[in-house]
Amino acid sequence: MKIKRSLIVMLLCLGSGLGFSGTDSVTHDDLVLMPYPASVEIKEGKFRLNKDFTIAHEGKAHDRLFAQATRMLRRLDRKTGFFFTQEFVTPEAKAGAGLVIKTQRPGEVRFGEDESYELTVGDNQIILSAANDIGAIRGMETLLQLLKADDEGYYFPAVEINDQPRFPWRGIMIDVARHFQPIDVIKRNLDGMAAVKMNVLHLHLVDDQGFRVESKVYPQLHEKASDGKYFTQQEIKEIIRYADELGIRVYPEFDVPGHATSWLVAFPELASAPGPYSIERNSGIFDPTLNPTIEKTYEVLGNLFVEMSNLFPDPYFHIGGDENEGHHWDQNQDIQKFMKKHGIKDNHELQTYFNKRLLKVLDKQNKKMVGWDEILQPDLPKTAIIHSWRGQEGLAKAASQGYKTILSNGYYIDLMKPAYKHYLNDPIPANSTLTDEQKKNVLGGEATMWSELVTPTTIDSRIWPRTAAIAERLWSPAELRDVESMYERMGEISFLLEEHGLTHIRNRDVILRNLTQQADIEALKVLSNVVEPLKGYRRNPGGAVYKTYSPFVLFADAAIADAPDARVFNRLVTDYLNGNSEAEEGIKTWLQLWSANHEKLAPVIARSPVLWSIKDLSANLSAIAKIGLDALEGELQEGDIMSQLNSYHSALAKLEQSREQGGRTDLQVVNSIKQLVKSKAGVLAAYRAENNVTVDGDFSDWNDVTWNYFVPAKHLNWNDTCHFAIKWDKKNLYFAFKVDNSNLQALANSRDKEGLHMDDGIEFLLDTDFDRSKEWKDDDLAYHVNVLNAIIDDRGSLKNGEYNNGWNGNAKTAVKVSGTVNDPSDKDQGYQVEVAISWKEIGKAPKDELVMGIDLCVNDRDDVYQQYRYFDYMNLPVFHMPAGFAKLVLVDKNFKERTSFEQE
Ligand code: ACM
Repeated sequence: MKIKRSLIVMLLCLGSGLGFSGTDSVTHDDLVLMPYPASVEIKEGKFRLNKDFTIAHEGKAHDRLFAQATRMLRRLDRKTGFFFTQEFVTPEAKAGAGLVIKTQRPGEVRFGEDESYELTVGDNQIILSAANDIGAIRGMETLLQLLKADDEGYYFPAVEINDQPRFPWRGIMIDVARHFQPIDVIKRNLDGMAAVKMNVLHLHLVDDQGFRVESKVYPQLHEKASDGKYFTQQEIKEIIRYADELGIRVYPEFDVPGHATSWLVAFPELASAPGPYSIERNSGIFDPTLNPTIEKTYEVLGNLFVEMSNLFPDPYFHIGGDENEGHHWDQNQDIQKFMKKHGIKDNHELQTYFNKRLLKVLDKQNKKMVGWDEILQPDLPKTAIIHSWRGQEGLAKAASQGYKTILSNGYYIDLMKPAYKHYLNDPIPANSTLTDEQKKNVLGGEATMWSELVTPTTIDSRIWPRTAAIAERLWSPAELRDVESMYERMGEISFLLEEHGLTHIRNRDVILRNLTQQADIEALKVLSNVVEPLKGYRRNPGGAVYKTYSPFVLFADAAIADAPDARVFNRLVTDYLNGNSEAEEGIKTWLQLWSANHEKLAPVIARSPVLWSIKDLSANLSAIAKIGLDALEGELQEGDIMSQLNSYHSALAKLEQSREQGGRTDLQVVNSIKQLVKSKAGVLAAYRAENNVTVDGDFSDWNDVTWNYFVPAKHLNWNDTCHFAIKWDKKNLYFAFKVDNSNLQALANSRDKEGLHMDDGIEFLLDTDFDRSKEWKDDDLAYHVNVLNAIIDDRGSLKNGEYNNGWNGNAKTAVKVSGTVNDPSDKDQGYQVEVAISWKEIGKAPKDELVMGIDLCVNDRDDVYQQYRYFDYMNLPVFHMPAGFAKLVLVDKNFKERTSFEQE
């Protein structure tokens, strides 16, 4: 099977350069294609481009084909500077054309249109065949991505590509309500969408903060509730025309009955609670809600929906329906009476009543109603489409009940999460329980660009390039999941997107220049490239820090998700810690750059009061870079290690403060530097046991195993010894450790007056994907062995072998606890804990190429917030004070043989 083979080739070739190749023939690595096609076969040869290159068409097509083919010719000309002689691509055949586009029929910009194409590049001719012009337009984007250069000039590598999308619905939702986005912004983003083969633009036109489309029927809506910022109907038609030429559908969302403040500014009589209403300036969920029990509501919505149905020809029409908490319904006596009279038992049923009435209006207009998760209620007709934003489960539930569904959960690009999270988020995950028939109900997905924190200056950098990863998820075969390859290709495609006029790269510098009053931004850029804006809703707590009219061109706005230099550095550190000593030079270069950066940046900050809030951030980057350098370069004495660690902890604490102070960004290299420091602090690397052992609660087998051990005993005044053994037999992972503590008194002293707590003990954390720099994930495992058991045991109330499985582990962990402590304030004879688990019992299969990280934290103290939060182990700003760390690298035999590991 072609598809499989090309994917395998692709996956084997990860990681190496994807830039221009030499004169040798190309490999899959050299192909910077995104979304990656379903099937790519590389052939011998190259099609050389020169100024005589022409494009011809054969067959039937919609006129958009000629517009787009001409546009492609111009794009190629701009890139190559050939001054092609062909003026336009026209329906008249041209003999001897370099590119022949063959289509059989005019395409229609509609859901489910055939977008497949075949592209054959040979030495002398390129043939692009598709059923219709829309497939051809997708193929043209692939061809443009194939352009390469070598010592002889520009060329297209010889390939045979057979391609079609996996999902028919691949979209972006742009919220033009929170911050209006003018038509130019929409058009350049449509160009970006076409470049990565997306086919739906969903315009979120109405929300509490604005009503953004002209209504001729009810002009008070846009006149009173938009601050003069809205699309005229003429502009909407132009957006639809422009999108149509690119083979992209456009459909509107009119969010009701919640998120309704702007409606009520124009129509206070439709409200569920007395006004007056004014346009909302904050972000969040607000109470203003349409009254679903009065006829006037349906009259206004009915007339408006008819008007808008005519304006937007696409048969899909989104009514929102999200986040109506119903407070104003609860408070309104008339609404309560109405519910009683009609036997409507709660607000969900009332909303379903409302939805069903809208459905009738939309039915008459031949529209299919789309709504967010919340509209899924028992009585909802199956013709409604569920747009899932709250979770994969909601999508699966709707699809299993026979509703058509679209996924946006996991594609919330406004939350500034790294691209790989979106990339790996599949509308139909591998473990989906949907039947094949039900899977057909999953139409695809949409990236959602909520605009609370973006303006036309920054919106592109929030959409791109990460949305290219989502585009690949929705277009390409499900098996394509290699994150490194994705990042490599996305980095290149980002420049291609810039060619369309997208401002995601250049506006970062614009913002930084403004902040420095046009000073040299070099040092500021160095800092900007290792930070990311606070993720999720942390940047704007409570939705109240930023108003809609606040400045959105501050330091955090120049920062992007996937901080570019941090990504490179973190990769180097991972390589280095996995044994690639060549990475050390690169690590040092970065650390030297950062350690010297504050000295350069401080004067710039001093002159720019708007940057004062990042002074600590800048100082901290330099401070932790120096710590990293010391760790790498120094022949550290044990005492030094401890002082390093301590200064490192204080640097972390400082970082925590500085981000609260207003930079509203996070440094993204902290975790890696921490790993470096740890790696030099007497940390165990790894061990691989050869003996056969079983996990049965009896540790006799393990006695034969060579224990590897580490003694970070100089840590504070505790005295723990940890021993590890690990075994991987291709089927099960066996993992055992023993901890001896002979100085529990010291532990008790370093605690608070109350001595040991219920949660004192040993936590070991299995981070199955070894992504500790990222957030704690559900598939990570945490175990807690309660040392208090030992103490209580000694008093006779608990038996050895019991363990606390109250966390997310239900494995039959074998735990042996023997303690001889009975009074921490008096005698102190220590304790010993042994734990063994098998992977099988955990119920999770490790990957073929397994690199597993384990943190073992002994005798944790409270974190800095005096809270006990296990997930914080993986999320470093809150740190426990472990008596020891261990990183155990388990390496599969076929991947990289390592039978023993030195202690570093
Ligand atoms: C939503 O994010 N409330 C759809």
